[in-house]
Amino acid sequence: MSQPLILSGKEVARTVYQDLQPRIARLKAKGVTPGLAVILVGDDPASRVYVRSKSRRFENLDLISETFTYPADISQAQLLDQIGHLNHDPRFHGILVQMPLPSSLDEAAVIEAISPEKDVDGFHPYNVGRLTSGQPTFIPCTPKGILRILSHYHLRLDGKHVVVVGRSNIVGRPLSILASLKNPSGNATTTLCHSRTRDIFAHTSQADVVVAALGQAEFIRGEHVRDGVILIDVGINRLADSSEKGYHLTGDVHFPSAAEKAAAITPVPGGVGPMTIAMLVENTVEAAEKLTA
Ligand code: GUN
Repeated sequence: MSQPLILSGKEVARTVYQDLQPRIARLKAKGVTPGLAVILVGDDPASRVYVRSKSRRFENLDLISETFTYPADISQAQLLDQIGHLNHDPRFHGILVQMPLPSSLDEAAVIEAISPEKDVDGFHPYNVGRLTSGQPTFIPCTPKGILRILSHYHLRLDGKHVVVVGRSNIVGRPLSILASLKNPSGNATTTLCHSRTRDIFAHTSQADVVVAALGQAEFIRGEHVRDGVILIDVGINRLADSSEKGYHLTGDVHFPSAAEKAAAITPVPGGVGPMTIAMLVENTVEAAEKLTA
């Protein structure tokens, strides 16, 4: 293949923020500033980095973002109590509990405590049910960002075979459902591969579109995909090297070999990552519009 089309999430995110400006201005004219409450439990370094970049983006856009940080040994009851307060706090239109939570906490119960109207992650079972049946709802940020990248570059899934690798509730499963829905951004035939799949590469080598969302550095290589494949790389992994920093960021796709086969590919960094944050802002603006209508 010749050079693949580089699907720049960074570029697409810029257009998302531009498109949000008039919506944010309309809200502010009514005295409403979209606000997000972020709950961070424990000291997982990756989670801290993600939360910091989310709140920095909100600040850059002059939106409200407040991070509530708790030690890993916070009790379930205390955490549920805090979410209950945030559900009723009119400053916040969105509530995000950064995942994963420490294993001592019941993640499902925490998610269920968030008001579905403020569930800008789209993780609450009410919103998951709506998504699954194709009804309008908050769509989880990373899958929503992936679909937005594809539509920005006029890449349609209609009739294509999409192979998603990784079945997380945050990315893989919702994306596989969205891609299969009967609507213009869906209509794909989907395969969801995971850690118990026999011969994952037998599936990826048949795919028109491969979404790598398993969290293993450079797992998908050129030899595992067809010529002309569209590759979406959700991974952000630190790979040790001899540089000054001691590591570099890499995706779940081995970019150099995969780029030789792909028609289009998302880079890491600058691909899916910036879109996750852009969709979080979009969902928060949407929540503010609905809650103050
Ligand atoms: N952890 C990794 N990705 C996400 C996300 O999109 N939302 C939340 N809440 N936690 C995450």
